[in-house]
Amino acid sequence: MTEAARHPLIIGSGIAGLYVGLRCRELGLRPTIVTKARLEESNTRYAQGGIAAAVGPGDSPAFHLADTVEAGVGLVDLNAARVLTSEAPARIADLVRYGVPFDTTEGQVALGREAAHGRSRILHAGGDATGLSIEEALRHRVLEAGIEVRERTVLRALRRDGRDGPVATLAGADGGSVEVFSSGPVVLATGGAGSLYRQSSNPAIATGEGVAIAFRAGALVTDMEFVQFHPTVFWREGAPRYLITEALRGEGAVLRNDAGERFMTKVHRDAELAPRDVVARAIDREILRTAHPCVYLDATALPRDRLFARFPSICHFLSAYGLDPSRDPIPVTPAAHYMIGGVTSDLDGRSTLRGLYTCGEVASTGVHGANRLASNSLLEGLVFGERVARQLLHPVPGGPPEPALVVDVKVAPGAGRGEETRLAREIRDLLWNDVGIVRTASGLRSALDEFGRLGRAAEPASPDQYAGPLANAVVTATLIARAALARTESRGCHYRSDYPRSKPSWRRHIGLRCGNAPAA
Ligand code: SIN
Repeated sequence: MTEAARHPLIIGSGIAGLYVGLRCRELGLRPTIVTKARLEESNTRYAQGGIAAAVGPGDSPAFHLADTVEAGVGLVDLNAARVLTSEAPARIADLVRYGVPFDTTEGQVALGREAAHGRSRILHAGGDATGLSIEEALRHRVLEAGIEVRERTVLRALRRDGRDGPVATLAGADGGSVEVFSSGPVVLATGGAGSLYRQSSNPAIATGEGVAIAFRAGALVTDMEFVQFHPTVFWREGAPRYLITEALRGEGAVLRNDAGERFMTKVHRDAELAPRDVVARAIDREILRTAHPCVYLDATALPRDRLFARFPSICHFLSAYGLDPSRDPIPVTPAAHYMIGGVTSDLDGRSTLRGLYTCGEVASTGVHGANRLASNSLLEGLVFGERVARQLLHPVPGGPPEPALVVDVKVAPGAGRGEETRLAREIRDLLWNDVGIVRTASGLRSALDEFGRLGRAAEPASPDQYAGPLANAVVTATLIARAALARTESRGCHYRSDYPRSKPSWRRHIGLRCGNAPAA
C-alpha cells in the first residue's frame, strides 16, 4: 500500500462519512473528513424514526431481507440486501460500542414498528431523536480519535487522473482558497438531494452535489428516477417543513382529510402502514381532490404521556405552533425525502472510477430497489461504510457491473451566471411540479427543456472552470428527470400517470453516463 493510499479523503459528515472515518482510523489509516457545513450538520441529524435491524425476539435477518425485497418491488439487488440485513446486528453493536444510547424498555432494547416492516425492529434513541443521538455519538468519537476534520470546505471537482484515487479539488465554502488533493482514495458520503425539491424533509445542505460532481468526472450513476417522498412533513404556510416520523403511524396515528374522514382505509389493506409511496400518493390525491393544502395526522387517540415520551422532538416542535398532538391533529403534506439512486456502487463501495468509493445516500447499490424500506437508510450508511473502510485497508481492483441500459447525458457549456436565487427556486418548483410524486412524459420533457435553459445560464463557459452549486443542482435535477422519462412504467416511488402499471420488461436499472466527461 502506498503512503497516499493510507490517507483517504472522506467527503461528508453524516452517519456514513463519520462511521467510515472512525473505522478507517481503527484500522490504522489516517483519514481526513471534509464537510461543507459544520461537522454536526447533515441529513442524519434530522432522522427521527430510527434504524432497522433484526435484533428482537422472533425476528431474523431473513425476515428483514424479505421485507426489504418486498418494499423494493422487483428491483432490489439481492446480494446487497442480504449484506444489509445480515450485517445489521453487528453494526448496531458498533453503535452501542461508540456510545449511542438506544432506548430500552424493561432492560431490553425498545423496538418500534414502521410501514412495510413485518416485525417491530426499529431501534431508536432519545425517542424521535435517533439521527441526532447517532450523529452526536459518532462526532464525539471522531474528535476524540483526533481524526483530521475540515469544516466549511466543499468538494469542487473530481478528476480521474490520480494514482490511488481521483484528484479532488477542495475550496472554502465561502469561496475561499482552493486546494488540490492528488493523493489517496476519495470516499463520497455526501448524502442526498431532497432539498432540490420545493417540499422537502431534508436540510438545505442536501443538494445532491456529490452525484453531479462524480457524474461530471465520468462515474456511472444509476436509479436516479427513484426519489422517495415521505408522506408526512409538517405543513403550515411560511413554516419550515419538518419531518413527522412514520413511527407515529406505527404507534397508531391515522390520516384524515379536511372533513375529518380517514381515507387510507379505502386505499390499502394496511391503511396508514401501507408502503410509503402508496401513502404519499394517496395524500397527494386527497390534497388535490379537496383543494385543501394539507391532510391531518391524528394522534389524539394515543395517551399523552406516551406521545411526549416517545416523540419529544416532534411535540416540542409543534408546541412552537400552538399545537399539542394529544389534542390537535397535525397538518401534514408529502415531501421529497430520500434519493434512492446515486453513484453506482458495488458491495464494497467501489464506483466505476478507480479509487472513488461511495456510501450512504449518495451511493446506488441497488439495495433499496424501487422503494426504500423505512429505517434502512441509516443502516445502509453503516453497513456499506464498514465495507468501504475494509476495502480501503486492502484495496482490490473491481467495481460495479454496468446495467444493460445506459443513457448518455451531455453537459453543455453555459454563460456561468452565478448563484441566482431565482434560478434555484425555479429548479425546486420544476422538480416538485413535473418530476414529483406523479409524473408524465409531457411534464418531464418540459422540465428537461427548462433544465437545459437553466444549465445554459449556470454552467461555466469552459470545462476548465469549476461548476458552482447551481450548475451542479441543474445536473442532478436533469439526471432525475432524464431517468424518469426513460422509465415508461410505474414502480415503487416512481409513478407515471401515463404508464400507471409496472412492466416485467422494466425489471432493470437505468444507468446514466456523462456523454462529455473528460477522458482519464
Ligand atoms: C421517518 O422517521 O419516518 C423516516 C424514516 C426513514 O426515512 O427511514
